[in-house]
Amino acid sequence: MSREPYLLPNGRVLRYTFRERLVHWLAGVSYVYLLLTGLAFWSPWLFWIAVVLGSPTISRAFHPWIGIVFLIAVCLMYSMWAAQMGETSADKAWWQAIGHYIRNEDRQVPSADRFNPGQKLLFWGFFWNAIVLLLSGLILWFPQSIPWNLRFLHLAAVLIHPISTLLTIALFIIHVYMGTAMERGAFGSVIRGDVSRAWADTHHHSWYQQLLRDSARK
Ligand code: HEM
Repeated sequence: MSREPYLLPNGRVLRYTFRERLVHWLAGVSYVYLLLTGLAFWSPWLFWIAVVLGSPTISRAFHPWIGIVFLIAVCLMYSMWAAQMGETSADKAWWQAIGHYIRNEDRQVPSADRFNPGQKLLFWGFFWNAIVLLLSGLILWFPQSIPWNLRFLHLAAVLIHPISTLLTIALFIIHVYMGTAMERGAFGSVIRGDVSRAWADTHHHSWYQQLLRDSARK
């Protein structure tokens, strides 16, 4: 975690630093562009999206480059958060209480660290899919560089690229729903950066308690 003070003088808690928010939105905006242009190439019914986004030629030219931007953002996320996304012994109890979490029965949900196990799963899901999308995407980008005897790699990429995208779409829908509609206060944390103490205590109790202990020690 960065050295910034997490308990702010105004009585709120810093959830995401400016750098974390910037990287998050670099990933968010590039992902949405990739999704829309990718859907446009995937189905003739959705080709109109490429027209709306400039022109089919522009969409086709930008898609792989924005893919590189997305990968850079995901790698930066990895450097900021991977150390906090490891599985802990407390995670099992959280998964067993997932029903309470879904029904918003906060009191019955075991205490979570800075990231709860569901957020960790999303993080690793996006990370590994970004790697798969890059590798399959590079083959689709430069098909002529695949040697003739390895042409099956091109066929594999044609299948794997959309399958991996579908997995990210599932993660994306759950993530956006949770971050905007289900967990009130979460969206403000990726915009302004801070949350109320009550929010931190309810949703990330272990993390909040650790921040209190750290600040009492100073
Ligand atoms: C574009 C629409 C998006 C919205 C509205 C959105 C919203 C949010 C919100 C509200 C949080 C804070 C959650 C919390 O701390 O409780 C968050 C965190 C996060 N977001 Fe996004 N996000 C979006 C796109 C993405 C994309 C495309 C990725 C994939 C790289 C991503 C990855 C993450 C990660 C790893 C976190 C930290 C852990 C977590 O909360 O899951 N987000 N996002």
